[in-house]
Amino acid sequence: MIETNRLLLRPFVTQDAADLLEYRREPLVNCFACMKLNTLEEARAEAEKLAAQPESCLAIVLKDSGKVIGEIEGHAESASPEDHAPADTVSPCWMLNRAYHGKGYAYEAARAYFEHLFGEKGIRRIYAYTEDYNLPCQRLCEKLGMRREGLFVEFVSFVNNPDGTPLYENTFQYAILKKEWDTQK
Ligand SMILES: CC(C)(COP(=O)(O)OP(=O)(O)OC[C@H]1O[C@@H](n2cnc3c(N)ncnc32)[C@H](O)[C@@H]1OP(=O)(O)O)[C@@H](O)C(=O)NCCC(=O)NCCS
Repeated sequence: MIETNRLLLRPFVTQDAADLLEYRREPLVNCFACMKLNTLEEARAEAEKLAAQPESCLAIVLKDSGKVIGEIEGHAESASPEDHAPADTVSPCWMLNRAYHGKGYAYEAARAYFEHLFGEKGIRRIYAYTEDYNLPCQRLCEKLGMRREGLFVEFVSFVNNPDGTPLYENTFQYAILKKEWDTQK
């Protein structure tokens, strides 16, 4: 459990299904199109799946009301091909209920999450992908002190064009190292 002024970041529970459905009904960006949920039944199954990954999937919860307003998810991966190399790198995904955008909640949650990864989990590098049109996400990365490392042109496709061909998107990569995080603190 991670606590900030206004938020708790905690593992999901099945009872989060209705709140999960509220913000997953209409994914706001193409990269989350495959995360769309249509019914409460689907949301219950998804909440159970997320609850089974308490280390990597956290619900963003308003302390005042207990409402789940979003999620932050990051799986540790290794930066080396060696079998026993430490899983010291994380690429987080974040998503907030549209009704709670523009209130600083994403920054508050992500900042505490980064502090947890760097300070307690031994993570060395955090990187994030974001599409070139996703200005709120780019702004969030920049507020967190992440460096823009590059632009991958027509890097990935999540949805098709109206004619059925893949729609390729241009993707920025942002990153920050633990030593950079410690310095900026
Ligand atoms: C990316 C996303 C999480 C960012 O959320 P957000 O609400 O824009 O980000 P923040 O919580 O940091 O809020 C930003 C604004 O809140 C405002 N704000 C209001 N009250 C505030 C407070 N107490 N503290 C800080 N900022 C506050 C500020 O104006 C701030 O904008 P600024 O820093 O440019 O001045 C959100 O747009 C989202 O869920 N998008 C869809 C999913 C997505 O794109 N995920 C990433 C895929 S790559």
